[in-house]
Amino acid sequence: MSTGFVCPHCQTDFNPRRADQVYCKPKCRLAPGDADNALRMIPGCVVERVDMRFSRAWAMPNADTFSVKPIGNFVRRYLIESSFSVDPFARNKRWATYTNDLNPETEAEHHMDAVSFLEMLENQVGGLIDLVILDPPYSPRQISECYKAAGKTVGMKDTQSALLYKAVRDACMPLLSANAVVLSFGWNSVGMGKSRGFVQEEILLVCHGGAHNDTICLAERRDA
Ligand SMILES: C[S@@+](CC[C@H](N)C(=O)[O-])C[C@H]1O[C@@H](n2cnc3c(N)ncnc32)[C@H](O)[C@@H]1O
Repeated sequence: MSTGFVCPHCQTDFNPRRADQVYCKPKCRLAPGDADNALRMIPGCVVERVDMRFSRAWAMPNADTFSVKPIGNFVRRYLIESSFSVDPFARNKRWATYTNDLNPETEAEHHMDAVSFLEMLENQVGGLIDLVILDPPYSPRQISECYKAAGKTVGMKDTQSALLYKAVRDACMPLLSANAVVLSFGWNSVGMGKSRGFVQEEILLVCHGGAHNDTICLAERRDA
């Protein structure tokens, strides 16, 4: 006869010993390798994605983000699989097919504002880009420093990182092929997001020690 209590993990009927018991035995609560199951047991926890690749590394910080070894390797892994790539904040890294940086002193191919650069590419390669690398300044202060280093005047609106990130992400959309990957680097894992039709594929967390912020490296794939 059914007890009315079914273990969500092994699907067997069981007699709970406590009023709040959900799983029949501890083994079901934390089945090895089943992170999904472990997270589901936290009351009120909405798990967005638990089956993606997640790793953490330690490395010294560097303003040239991709010169940090684990981050450079992360980018290279996606570049190998890409046919046409874009890096609108490239600084001196000409790894992508199309590179840009606001600062004319850098080795990027173009020196435009990131949004204008992406809009320019739309006519040439709209729908063909299978990899975008987004490594913008990580804070309002860094934006201000980049503008000054590029010899540009900077106003309050220019330094709002959220505005820059949104404008850049929106400007990427017309360039992208159906299953394009977007790599985002910074101090949060917002990325392109579900609203733009992206699924998170991988996160690499790079710890820099001391009081430094980690660098969060996010890979998302368009699910179109
Ligand atoms: C974090 S760095 C990129 C580092 C690079 N990925 C590397 O590994 O060396 C950000 C770059 O974005 C550039 N930048 C800042 N604001 C920009 C904008 N609005 N448009 C284009 N480039 C911008 C800066 O000049 C800076 O070189």
